[in-house]
Formats: sequence, structure tokens, C-alpha cells
Amino acid sequence: MTALTRLRLTNFRSHANLDLKLDSRPVCLWGANGAGKTNVLEAISQLGPGRGLRAASLPDMTRHDADTGWTVSATLDDDQKIGVGLDSSGHGHKRSIRLDGAPATASDLADLIRIVWLTPAMDSVFRGGASERRRFFDRQVMAHIPSHGSVASRYEKAMRERNALLERGRVDPAWADAIEGRMAEAGALMASNRARILMTLQAAINARPDGFFPKGDLSLDGTAEQAAIDGASLFDIQDQIAEDLAKGRYRDQAAGRTLSGPHRSDLIVIHRPTGAPAGEASTGQQKALLIGLILASARALSEDGDGPSPLILLDEAAAHLDRDRRSALFDELIEIGGQAWLTGTEEFLFEAFGDRAQRVEIKADADAATA
Ligand SMILES: Nc1ncnc2c1ncn2[C@@H]1O[C@H](COP(=O)(O)OP(=O)(O)O)[C@@H](O)[C@H]1O
Ligand SMILES: [Mg+2]
Repeated sequence: MTALTRLRLTNFRSHANLDLKLDSRPVCLWGANGAGKTNVLEAISQLGPGRGLRAASLPDMTRHDADTGWTVSATLDDDQKIGVGLDSSGHGHKRSIRLDGAPATASDLADLIRIVWLTPAMDSVFRGGASERRRFFDRQVMAHIPSHGSVASRYEKAMRERNALLERGRVDPAWADAIEGRMAEAGALMASNRARILMTLQAAINARPDGFFPKGDLSLDGTAEQAAIDGASLFDIQDQIAEDLAKGRYRDQAAGRTLSGPHRSDLIVIHRPTGAPAGEASTGQQKALLIGLILASARALSEDGDGPSPLILLDEAAAHLDRDRRSALFDELIEIGGQAWLTGTEEFLFEAFGDRAQRVEIKADADAATA
């Protein structure tokens, strides 16, 4: 199991200096609204790929009035030290990554840490538009396949070039072919990553205990993803995307954007107990479904022997559950075995953990005391 045994933040949002010494049990952060609990989870999320839990830019996370960039340093239970930070020396803003004091890469970090999270901002994912669900699902894919984010960026970049080319009017077909070729290559990889993780998640959902957090049946609404699920080769998917793009040039030119491709795919979730689309479920059912999904994602990471067990960040999840559900959630987190980080405004919310978890009070002045 991978756990953080120390976490230090400097100039990270509200925290000028926060130093938490921990053991490998789950961590319950409690404290008043605005104390900086979500900020701590966001800091941990910086140890993974992508922009983290609030999808903020690097400079936005710097504490107001700080004269240097932020850092997040963590010690793992095997004593390795990892650190990420905002390096504002030189031009622009760069994420700096260190491993045991030496410069390291995002992929070094990905070998040591995997993270999943659930925040109140995700509560609307089943009611919102396809783009919100796609982002949510891509985040799960990234937790399992860290390179997914850069594949998606490559696709988006090529798509922006294609849109700009079409906008210019007379289109050089060879030029369009080349750009669409790059979109197709990245898009096929994107779709096959998604298809793979969809199947991984569904298997983990099916293996979860029945109980308070209902199971969902997942599918992807997207031609390329469907082809990948049906077993098409990467080359075939790539050809199909390229062909669709070439055919759609005039249509897309008129629309001013690219109307087909994996950037339009949607995650479909059916609430299994009722058989109804998740979007039609009650708010409470949606939340429970979402918790079940994240637990399944964590379980899949935990059981996949190829990487570290996940850190599971659950922001304000306990407060919306009754006693029995809280207790079921904690039991399942213990069973999954990754280090969970939970937040809540009151310490009693975590009672059912007993001594299976540690509590840390977060105070607005960035002083933390372990109880
Ligand atoms: N860049 C920043 N610099 C200083 N304070 C910040 C920054 N960003 C957010 N905050 C402060 O962090 C606080 C919210 O912290 P948060 O972690 O969301 O609280 P909670 O404990 O309720 O989860 C707010 O008071 C906000 O003003
Ligand atoms: Mg919060």
C-alpha cells in the first residue's frame, strides 16, 4: 500500500506553512468551512497527472501575497520523498517535480502515486452536459493511464489547427490530411484508453459488494470507443476517424468547429437498481452512485498489481450520508486498502472509523494539530 506519512505545503492557497505528520491509516481532515480542507486535498492532487482537483492553473494555487511559488512535499511510507511546485523562475510558469531531492518527471511520479477523487463539484455530473461527464470519465482514465491527459492534449491541439485551417476558407487537402492524421492517431489512442478503462471500471463495479452505494452500468456513446470495445485494432479506429474527418470538412467548415470525433463522446450511466438513466435518479441516488463509481475506480487501482495503491480523496462525502451509509463507506475504504483522505466540518462524522483512521484538525490560520 502507498500512503503519505508526511505532507508539507508552503504558500499553497490558504496555507502558508502546513506540516502534517501521519501514519498510513486513512486521514480525516475536519474543521470549519473555509479552514482550508479542500485546499489540502487539492494540494495532494497535484502529485498526480493533470491540473488537479479544481483544474486550476499553477499560479492560481499560489497563496495571495506570497513572494515565491507554492510547493507540496510528501513522504511516502517507504520513505521516498516527492515534491511538486510552481517554478516561476525564468519565463512563464512551470511545474517542477522532485524525487528524493533530484529533478524528476511526471512519469516518475506516476510510478509512485495514483489518485482518485470525488468533490461536491462533481455532484451535477449526471445532470450536466456531455462535456462534464467526458471530463469526469477522462479523469478516471488518467488515474489508471497517466499518459491519457497528454494524448488528449495532442488531439485537442491538432483539432484547433484543423478548425483554424477550415476557417481560412480554401483548404489545401494535403495539409488537412496531415492535421487530420494527427487527430486520428491521438483520437484512436484516446478512444482505446477510454474503452479499456470502461471495461476495467465495469468489472470493478460488478465485483463491489451490494449495499448502500448502488451499481451503475456504464457505456460510452462514441463511434471510436464503441469500435475499440468491439475489438477493432488501433489502426482501424485511426482510419475510421481520419475518414470521418475528411468527409466532414465542409460540414465542419460551415459549423465553425469539428462536429464528430472522440472529443464529443459521452459517458452513459444507468442506475442498475431502477434501470433508469442516472440523470433521472434522485439527487441522493446520484451521489450514492457516484461514490460507488469512485470506490470501484479505487478498487480497480488497488487490485491492479502494476502500480501503487491509490490515494482516495473524498471531499465532503461523509456529511451527506446517514450513519449507516457513513459506516459502510468507511468499511469499504478500509477493505480497498488505499490511503483515503476525507473532509468534514465536524469530527463526529468520522466516529465509525474508530481507531482505523487518524483525525487532523485544519484551522484557518494554517495551524494543524493531530488529535
Ligand atoms: N490563492 C489563495 N491564496 C490564499 N487563500 C486562498 C487562495 N485560494 C483560496 N484561498 C482561501 O481558501 C479558503 C477556502 O479553503 P477551502 O479549502 O476551500 O476550505 P474548506 O475547509 O471549507 O474546504 C478561502 O478562505 C479562500 O479565500
Ligand atoms: Mg471544502
